[in-house]
Amino acid sequence: MAKYVLYCRAGFENDCAAEIQTKAAEVELYGFCRTKPDTGYVEFEITGASEGVLFAKLQLDSLIFCRQWFCVIDELFAIDIADRISPIMQSLKGKPFSDFTVDYPDTNLGKEVSGFAKKFSVPLRNALRKQNILVTKSSEILHLFVFDSQNMLLGWSPLNNRSELHLGIKRLKFPSQAPSRSTLKLEEAFHHFIPAKEWDTRLSGGLLAVDLGAAPGGWTWQLVNRGMMVSAIDNGPMNERLMDSGQVKHFKEDGFKFSPYKRNVYWLVCDMVEKPKKVSALMVKWIINGWCKEAIFNLKLPMKQRFQTVQEIIEDIEVSMYQAGKRYQFSAKHLYHDREEITCHLRAL
Ligand SMILES: C[S@@+](CC[C@H](N)C(=O)[O-])C[C@H]1O[C@@H](n2cnc3c(N)ncnc32)[C@H](O)[C@@H]1O
Repeated sequence: MAKYVLYCRAGFENDCAAEIQTKAAEVELYGFCRTKPDTGYVEFEITGASEGVLFAKLQLDSLIFCRQWFCVIDELFAIDIADRISPIMQSLKGKPFSDFTVDYPDTNLGKEVSGFAKKFSVPLRNALRKQNILVTKSSEILHLFVFDSQNMLLGWSPLNNRSELHLGIKRLKFPSQAPSRSTLKLEEAFHHFIPAKEWDTRLSGGLLAVDLGAAPGGWTWQLVNRGMMVSAIDNGPMNERLMDSGQVKHFKEDGFKFSPYKRNVYWLVCDMVEKPKKVSALMVKWIINGWCKEAIFNLKLPMKQRFQTVQEIIEDIEVSMYQAGKRYQFSAKHLYHDREEITCHLRAL
């Protein structure tokens, strides 16, 4: 029996659970989940499998609702506050790690324990060093998943199949000139979907972009800030300062009917609040028609059966692309700045 913990946004535990059970079953790993509403994590137990086998068969990046994961080593409950270190060391039995992280759920309760987590890192690091547990050549990271100062799980994740972000969360500073907080969703999407070493070509100045559902301009601002020329499609008003950049043309048109005047659009971005299947079909149309090379778009999800809806959409995309004979790359993630939506990336190959 191997037990894993998967972090997700609070309120999305059932979606994270449905997804891991489905994806694990696809690689012939069968297990069950334990979830509690609004806890920000899911426990997944795989029957008859050795420790860490999930990491060998499934990539974290292929999961939409899971931000970070680890395989459980031990569960420490009601530990003595006078000596928290000894039980941890006993559980680790000298097993080496390249580093460690003290984690907690992304919830209000988790925030309360974050101060303790930070403080406890100092004596923990000293103890791990003293016992020669932190060694650079290890390919595993130790996780302490803290519920409160006396109750925690110990686990590990592999360096090559985990999020390098603390709690799997990308923290970004809101750029004060941007017209809306939505801007952070597109910025996070760039970080998540586009490898840093490819930003110079795929997010470079001079590229043409179309922003469907652009007003007031948070997403357009991201594109303008990188030196792109943007066609902004929305009946609503665009931010005036952004229009003063001279890099934006505003079209008061329906995003579902708009087609580009120029044939060298590189980016299509879309944040229209519409039925997710309608939006994904539009994105597929742009890619199949060769109207853009890459698209980043949000899909607003229903309140229930979110994973099932996403699965159906991914199947629709596969069928359409196959019928059109179009090679493509698709990925999706429930990003930190997303709420009742996920962000998708579709790229023509
Ligand atoms: C969530 S807001 C977009 C926010 C924007 N991304 C930002 O960062 O400021 C959704 C926008 O989509 C626009 N919209 C909805 N349906 C549309 C359609 N069919 N055509 C064009 N725009 C549409 C709305 O007018 C609204 O301004």
